[in-house]
Amino acid sequence: MKTIPALLQERLRSALEGLSFGEFDIKDVVVDVTQASDPRFGDYQSNVAMVLAKRAKMNPRALAESIRERFEGKGICAALEIAGAGFLNFRLDSQWVRARVEAMRDDPRLAVPEPTVKKKIIVDFSSPNVAKPMHVGHIRSTILGDSIARIAEFYGHSVVRDNHIGDWGTQFGMLLVGWKTILSLEALRADPLGEMERIYKIISARCKDDPATMDAARQELVRLQAGDDENLALWREMIRLSQSQFDSIYGRLGIRFDVTLGESFYNDRLKPVVEELRALGIARESDGAICVFSDHKGPQEADPFLIKDKEGWRDNPALVLKSDGAANYTTTDLATLQYRNETWQPQEIVYVTDGRQQLHFRQVFAIFGRWKPDEARGVKLSHVWFGSILGEDGRPFKTRSGETIRLAELLDEAQERALVLVNAKNPELAEDQRREIARIIGIGAVKYSDLLPNRQGDYLFSWDKMLSFQGNTAPYLQNAYVRIRSIFRKLSEGGEQWASGGAIELDSPQEIALGKKLLQFGEVVPQVLEDHRPSTLANYLYELANVFHSFYEACPVLKAEGNQRASRLELCEIAARTIKTGLGLLGIEVPERM
Ligand code: ARG
Repeated sequence: MKTIPALLQERLRSALEGLSFGEFDIKDVVVDVTQASDPRFGDYQSNVAMVLAKRAKMNPRALAESIRERFEGKGICAALEIAGAGFLNFRLDSQWVRARVEAMRDDPRLAVPEPTVKKKIIVDFSSPNVAKPMHVGHIRSTILGDSIARIAEFYGHSVVRDNHIGDWGTQFGMLLVGWKTILSLEALRADPLGEMERIYKIISARCKDDPATMDAARQELVRLQAGDDENLALWREMIRLSQSQFDSIYGRLGIRFDVTLGESFYNDRLKPVVEELRALGIARESDGAICVFSDHKGPQEADPFLIKDKEGWRDNPALVLKSDGAANYTTTDLATLQYRNETWQPQEIVYVTDGRQQLHFRQVFAIFGRWKPDEARGVKLSHVWFGSILGEDGRPFKTRSGETIRLAELLDEAQERALVLVNAKNPELAEDQRREIARIIGIGAVKYSDLLPNRQGDYLFSWDKMLSFQGNTAPYLQNAYVRIRSIFRKLSEGGEQWASGGAIELDSPQEIALGKKLLQFGEVVPQVLEDHRPSTLANYLYELANVFHSFYEACPVLKAEGNQRASRLELCEIAARTIKTGLGLLGIEVPERM
């Protein structure tokens, strides 16, 4: 199904084609149709008359008039309305909405259009570091990346989910020293990541003021890099232990990856990348290191290799080989890009990390563009970055003793807190049922509160807010779904057989509003992929639940009769399906009762 804005755009275009713009060619003009900002003016609006009038030096109001004369709504909407300086407003015809809601019901894609181009998209997300527990900072990458992957897949793209774990680097020198000198096997068995983190912290602190420890760490690292059997085996063990902890978290969050290719996977490619960059004149030596400097081709403001300070613009090069001969994070990401292009030929790669890595990715993308200009033109590289999670005091989210909060513990707490609510609401349910509902609510609440805010801002982590059954929260949406399901439960408890498929009628304003809101699902899903903001979908689901609520207040369902009752049941069914599907795209489950 095409979206409503797409249909209206086509109609507008045909109206425009019959008009004369003199010399001016309207082919490249974007005919924009968006949801109306104020429902009093209709359902959709376009500012094309104003945009065109400005560019073709015409009177916007007069142009709007001539567009209106030629516009053929073909049943979609009644006559166009003109407002202000030349806004075009569309009011959908409710008979047309009615038929379209039926079509949505019969569409497994729930009115989501097919993509014009089916892309291969790699989503690089989660990417925790070995030997460190996954903490609350990794949660955003994991949850956002998973949702983007789900939405892209549902839309019809083919997705590769890649977990680019940090399994290589200088920290392993210190970890090896710690492992060989201060490791407690007992602690390792009880809490592998906790113990690895402990030894890492001790040794890295010692390295700061003890040159002998520093030296030992360096030697262990050199041995590891040279392929020493013992160190390789220990390193593998650290990866294995970490991975199994990561997997248990992913299992709880319902997250899967197609590949887990950590940084170490790209080891053999690093030196050749540096060589190529040097040979092409993109990288050069500077103070013993190999660096990429600006090519001074674009505007300074947009150049990631320049930085401005009091004295003016100066170089801000990207290191690709340190003076000690070691490649780094940048080199690894370049090699990774090369590998991904060879292996999957993606049209887009989405990197989900926190905002502090913005410069890193701008430099990597720019180097790639200079290194492989043809390939770079074929693949869109998107850094999807996010802000921090703050505690309710507005400071970085930490435990009371100032430690970073571990993800596993956070999820435990979410489920425990949800269980308290479920126990109060549903004491009559069996304990395992209550626990299962609490799991769905608790994990859903954590995910939703992470996806809802504008991802580029920081957000306040608040248990009370995220677990509330009121307001824009996961429990509120889950509850909306459960309430609709309970209508159907009553139906079957009354011995009634009901199957979806009957005619839909939209009589009251609340039914019409619900029909229109449901149809917007098809617009929202592709929109999320344009700017990688699952928050758009979250907000839509909240609006839908509210519109459903008004409908349910105003329109009796089970007490209605005949066709009206049947039609209202259909609306309930589609609303439930849309909420369930939408939450599913955010990675959130729904219980059948709560
Ligand atoms: N391991 C990194 C971190 O924890 C994130 C990796 C993101 N992906 C990438 N291709 N650089 O910060």
